[in-house]
Amino acid sequence: MNTDYLTVASEIAREAGALLREYLEKGVAVEYKAKFDVVTAADRASEKLVVDRLRNRFPRHTILGEEGFGVDNGSEYIWHIDPLDGTTNFSHGYPIFAVSIGLEKNGESVVGVVYDPTREEFFAAEAGSGAYLNNRRMRVSKVEKLEDGLFATGFPPANRTSNRNVHNFYQFSVLTHGTRRAGSAALDICSVAAGRLEGFWELGLKSWDVSGGVTILKEAGGKVSDMQGGKFLSGGPHLTVSNGLVHEQMLEIFQLVAEGRPPAPVPPAVG
Ligand code: IPD
Ligand code: CA
Ligand code: CA
Repeated sequence: MNTDYLTVASEIAREAGALLREYLEKGVAVEYKAKFDVVTAADRASEKLVVDRLRNRFPRHTILGEEGFGVDNGSEYIWHIDPLDGTTNFSHGYPIFAVSIGLEKNGESVVGVVYDPTREEFFAAEAGSGAYLNNRRMRVSKVEKLEDGLFATGFPPANRTSNRNVHNFYQFSVLTHGTRRAGSAALDICSVAAGRLEGFWELGLKSWDVSGGVTILKEAGGKVSDMQGGKFLSGGPHLTVSNGLVHEQMLEIFQLVAEGRPPAPVPPAVG
């Protein structure tokens, strides 16, 4: 039965990704949900497509979509849809964005698919069956030390000036091979799953940003928690994913930063 969910989700994600590619070629007008929080006609068209297809196949399921086209049927099955993860990139023609679809049953992973239509990379997993990139099995990296790793984070558009994550960003930038901020949380998580990054973290993500990616990450052998090492809840306030080997080292940096004892000295802005 689960295989059916994966097949359907995969077909829909590919269709939505093709639609995004068409919008990218045509160009889209930028609209604002709030200051700095952009949305486009492509976000809405992609979500309508995904929701219509899912409702058609699974009329009793609940669908939670970022753009509000979902339906709450009070089901134990919830589809978490980000029809365009990386809208800011997309709206500038910067080609790092994806469609993300995650299915959870009573909060537990069932399937996850994340499709990057510009690279034609398709990340997919079903709980208990491993994770695949373009049908090839993928695994997290074997890097053991934080200082040998490459990391990523992100910054949500809301409450920009009260987000303290810039301090973590700096610490990881100087204590590791580097910190990337590519602009698509779903692809960042899949990059950890594919062994391209050792870890990713962010505060303030929503369930649609992470549900698909986290299922893929777990099936690739990765570890997920909140930023204090607690159980990760889809849509929880903060998330840490890693190859497992550097997880505790990541949490230690967050802890030291939160205590005001950052391990690397921070230079003064002036002088
Ligand atoms: C955003 C991206 C970005 C992350 C933001 C998200 P959106 O999603 O995932 O990488 O840093 O927190 O809101 O708005 O492009 O779907
Ligand atoms: Ca998103
Ligand atoms: Ca989005």
